[in-house]
Amino acid sequence: MRQRTRLKIKLYRPHPGQAKIHLSKARFRIVACGRRFGKTLLAVNEIVKQAWERPGTTNFWIAPTYAQSKIALNLVLRHFRRAVREVNKSELWVELLSGGRIDFKSAERPDNLRGFGIHFVVIDEAGYIRDEVWKEVVRPALIDTRGRLLAIGTPKGRNWFYELWLKGQGDDPDYKSWQMPTWVNPYIPRSEIEELRRTLPERVFRQEIEAEFLEESGGVFRNWKACVQEYDLPARAEGSVSIGVDLAKYEDFTVIVAVDETGRVVYFDRFNQIDWALQKARILKAYSHFPNATVVVDATGVGDPIYEDLRRVGVRVVPYKFTPSSKEVLINTLSVAIENQEVVFPPIPELLRELQAFEYQITKSGRVKMGAPPGLHDDTVIALALAVWGLRRSGGLAVGSFVVG
Ligand SMILES: Nc1ncnc2c1ncn2[C@@H]1O[C@H](COP(=O)(O)OP(=O)(O)OP(=O)(O)O)[C@@H](O)[C@H]1O
Ligand SMILES: [Mg+2]
Repeated sequence: MRQRTRLKIKLYRPHPGQAKIHLSKARFRIVACGRRFGKTLLAVNEIVKQAWERPGTTNFWIAPTYAQSKIALNLVLRHFRRAVREVNKSELWVELLSGGRIDFKSAERPDNLRGFGIHFVVIDEAGYIRDEVWKEVVRPALIDTRGRLLAIGTPKGRNWFYELWLKGQGDDPDYKSWQMPTWVNPYIPRSEIEELRRTLPERVFRQEIEAEFLEESGGVFRNWKACVQEYDLPARAEGSVSIGVDLAKYEDFTVIVAVDETGRVVYFDRFNQIDWALQKARILKAYSHFPNATVVVDATGVGDPIYEDLRRVGVRVVPYKFTPSSKEVLINTLSVAIENQEVVFPPIPELLRELQAFEYQITKSGRVKMGAPPGLHDDTVIALALAVWGLRRSGGLAVGSFVVG
C-alpha cells in the first residue's frame, strides 16, 4: 500500500521554488510567495507526507475560513485519492491508508483549535490569520509535541506572519523563511505577469506578485509630478468628457473635475457650500460646458437622492456607491492611470497637495484603508478618481481594478 501511495505522491513534480521548501528540515518554515506560486499545492503534498509517515499524530490544516479549508481537503482527495481510507466532508478530515490523519480547520473559531497537541500544522493564507490564533492557540499546541509549522501565504501587512518570516531570515536553524515572486512558478505564463504589472498599482503588484511585506502605511500615488502640465482651465474638449463629482456632505468641499477622453483634466471647481440647490447649479454649469459629458457622482447615502435629481433633470449621470472595496477599486484605477501617465493636470494647488498626502494604511487584520491623513481633505482626489473611473468605464482608459483583502 505504502508503495502505491509513494507512486501517487511522485505524480507531483515540485517546481524549483517549491523544491527548496520541501528540502528544508527547519521546524518552522515560513513561505511568503506571490499569488498562484503553488503554495497550497506544495503544502498539501507536505501534510499528506507527514500524516502518511506518522500514523497516530495530529496534523492540522488551518485556513482563514471553513470554505478555504474545504478547498485544501478537496485538493488532497484530487491528488491522493488512492491513499485515502476514509473522508468526512462535513467535519473536514481524512484518514489515510497508513493510518495517518489530517484535520482541516478554520481560524474563524479559534477555540475549536484548543485542547490538542499538534505535531504538524499548515497555516494557509497566513497573512489573513489573526495574531492571537498563532500566538495564543497554535504555538502553544506545538510545545510538548515539538510540533512543526509550515506557514504559507501572500504578505498582508505586518502581523505574526511577517514577524516569523523575519525570524526565518536570521540564523536560528529552527526557523527558515522564503520570499519568491509568482513567476517562479513555471506554469504561469510570463505574459500574464506583464499584464498585471501594467494594470495593477505598483504597490499592489509588489505585495501580491513580488510577495513584499509592504510598510504599514505609505503614499498611494507615485510619480504624480510627471502628470503635471501648465495650461489654463477650463480647457476646450473635443470628444466625450467624464465629470467626477465629490459632494460636500457636512463641512468638507464639493469638487467637480472633468477629464477629456485623452485623460486631460479640462475643468475644475471646488467650493464649500452644502446647499444642494447651489451644488446642483455648479454641476449643471460644468455639464453645460461640454457637449458630450457624463457625470459620475458619489451616490452613497444622501448622495443617492442627489443622483436621482440629476437624472430627473436630464443629466447623463452614473452613480458610484462607496464601500471599502469599491473605494479601493476607484483609488487603484486612479493610481494606475497616474503611474502610467494616462492623466494630465495643471498645477492646481489643492489637487497636488491632496495627491501628495493621500495614504494607505494596512490594518492589523490586513485590510487596506485609503484616504487623507486626519485633518486633511481628499475630495479633490476622489473627484478626479471618479472622473477617471468614468472614462475607463466608457472604454477611454485601459486600466484594471484589483481589490486586496
Ligand atoms: N509543481 C506544479 N506542477 C504543476 N502545476 C502546479 C505546480 N505548482 C503549482 N501548480 C499550479 O499552479 C496553480 C497555483 O497553485 P496553488 O493554488 O497551489 O497556488 P497558491 O500559491 O496557493 O495560489 P493562491 O495565491 O491563489 O492561493 C494551480 O493551477 C496549480 O495546479
Ligand atoms: Mg493558495
